[in-house]
Amino acid sequence: MTTTANIPAIQAPHLLADTDLTADELQALISLAVDVKRSPARYATALAGKSIALLFEKPSLRTRVTFELAIQQLGGHSVFQDHRDGRIGEREPAKDMARNLDRWVDAIVARTFTQQILERLAQWSSVPVINALSGKYHPCQAMADFQTLYERFGSLKGFKMAFIGDGNNVCHSLMLCAARLGVSLTVATPPEYEPDAEVVAHARAIAPSSGAAIELSFDPRQAVSGASAVYTDIWTSMGWEAETQQRRVAFAGFQVNDELMAETAPNAVFMHCLPAARGEEVTDSVMESPASIVFDQAENRLHAQKALLLMFLAGKRS
Ligand code: CP
Ligand code: NVA
Repeated sequence: MTTTANIPAIQAPHLLADTDLTADELQALISLAVDVKRSPARYATALAGKSIALLFEKPSLRTRVTFELAIQQLGGHSVFQDHRDGRIGEREPAKDMARNLDRWVDAIVARTFTQQILERLAQWSSVPVINALSGKYHPCQAMADFQTLYERFGSLKGFKMAFIGDGNNVCHSLMLCAARLGVSLTVATPPEYEPDAEVVAHARAIAPSSGAAIELSFDPRQAVSGASAVYTDIWTSMGWEAETQQRRVAFAGFQVNDELMAETAPNAVFMHCLPAARGEEVTDSVMESPASIVFDQAENRLHAQKALLLMFLAGKRS
């Protein structure tokens, strides 16, 4: 049985960055994700007859599998287009691709190197374009991460977390969501690897509305002090492989290990979007510790993305 009548709709036409969801929509998405997880059968036909294209320029385990399963488990079907051997826009312009795809499918889920190519697809698509990771943002990851924290801690208002490592796409999305959910986030990076200044300014502009504080630091110990969640990501994101060696040197003091976890608030959790490079940004010991909730995060990718698809495709638009 489908209960789409009460599903709130996302008002923005696309999800290119986290800021395309209002604070209320983000809260509603987390609530819906919790319900979808608890009662999947209620939504089993919600996307009946809907087709969704997945365009991926980079490898993926979690995002691809969870989007394909989410669509299938909601009664729709997906078509995967692998662009790893040639970027979107190479064989034909993105604006032409968008205008082909929107004649056939109800949404386009795209993983791209640049934010610009995602924006180009969206500019020309009459159906929603959803960011499945770009060089700048990873909104689907952040949604699942905050669902995971909400389930674990019950409330997000006043929660304190630290992000240690590279000020990258995952970090940007966490900052923008934290700022709207009342989560105070301190980001500790080496100099020159800070998050994008515009994203920081945007998150800081939003934060007062929720009571959150968004801080930057060069000191991992200071960042994790009092934090109930410590988050890290790989030092070399996809597309930056030429810098791997130089990044190993720059990030050497930014490993999340048992010593760093000992500086957190009591009962703090460890988070990672995965894949992880054990021995680099995180030790095996922390990954395998009782504090680690990385597989809960991965599981929730499925539920959060179901909620997102429902709000885009089954939600009532006013
Ligand atoms: N966390 C994440 O997005 O994983 P994949 O790159 O495997 O999709
Ligand atoms: N920051 C990483 C996230 C992988 C899920 C990357 O972009 O490669």
